[in-house]
Amino acid sequence: MEIIAIANQKGGVGKTTTAVNLTASLAAKRKRVLLIDLDPQGNATTGTGLDKNDLELTITDVLLDGVSLQEAIVKSPAGFDVIAANRELAGMDITLMGQTNSHELLKTAMADLVTDQVNGKTKPYDYIIMDCAPSLNLLTINALVTTDGVIIPMQCEYYALEGLADLSQTIERLTELNPKLYIRGVVRTLFDARNTLANDVSAELDAHFGDIMYKTHIPRNIRLAEAPAHGMPVLAFEKSSKGAQAYLKLAAEVIKQSR
Ligand SMILES: Nc1ncnc2c1ncn2[C@@H]1O[C@H](COP(=O)(O)OP(=O)(O)OP(=O)(O)O)[C@@H](O)[C@H]1O
Ligand SMILES: [Mg+2]
Repeated sequence: MEIIAIANQKGGVGKTTTAVNLTASLAAKRKRVLLIDLDPQGNATTGTGLDKNDLELTITDVLLDGVSLQEAIVKSPAGFDVIAANRELAGMDITLMGQTNSHELLKTAMADLVTDQVNGKTKPYDYIIMDCAPSLNLLTINALVTTDGVIIPMQCEYYALEGLADLSQTIERLTELNPKLYIRGVVRTLFDARNTLANDVSAELDAHFGDIMYKTHIPRNIRLAEAPAHGMPVLAFEKSSKGAQAYLKLAAEVIKQSR
């Protein structure tokens, strides 16, 4: 079982789109996947067809009330397992301020999934994908302390290189808390191949970070933006779209990285 956090402090770069559609694509490739929403915005929750205002248990109950991850799992209309989030998660930083283990609550909760819930033999999932909020708040730190690797969605614009350098430093610092932590890969999102600047930045990313860049570029594709409004991953919404095909290719790259 591999745990992957989808993170970038920058907002609106395609984290949630990547989390939902990578999960759906892995599931389509017959992998057992769990998606955990760690953002009070609850976008990943809505994007899989769940009503974020009508949930019995969410990640908030796990982190603040000691409910087990196992209990909080819901089957989403998208067809795979989800641990949902909504606005209730927003006050967590303040609620937990001063509590010494506040950065490892998720890691502790994850222990019951890492060993199988029934007999401790087979692990229940091949991949756990976590969608983080656009900040380095306590929730994101919990994700980074728990995860094996990080996938960073990145838009090819002028500040991308600086942003990536900053983020790598942050991740480097957090290896103190999680020695396994590494950048599994950087995925170019919202990519417009007709845009000269995007191509230049993309080439720069390859030159400086070549070994961690995924080959798959996720194109700017209207179907990817429309699918969440229907509570569907794009694969269910329009399988033949460029966006759906790109996320299938990304999933193949992610699987290839697995030991
Ligand atoms: N490849 C794409 N093509 C077209 N639209 C996209 C694509 N990726 C994301 N979007 C749209 O761009 C917006 C931001 O994407 P998304 O919500 O995935 O980013 P995010 O990084 O999760 O944002 P936040 O930082 O707020 O959590 C959304 O409206 C989404 O539908
Ligand atoms: Mg998001």
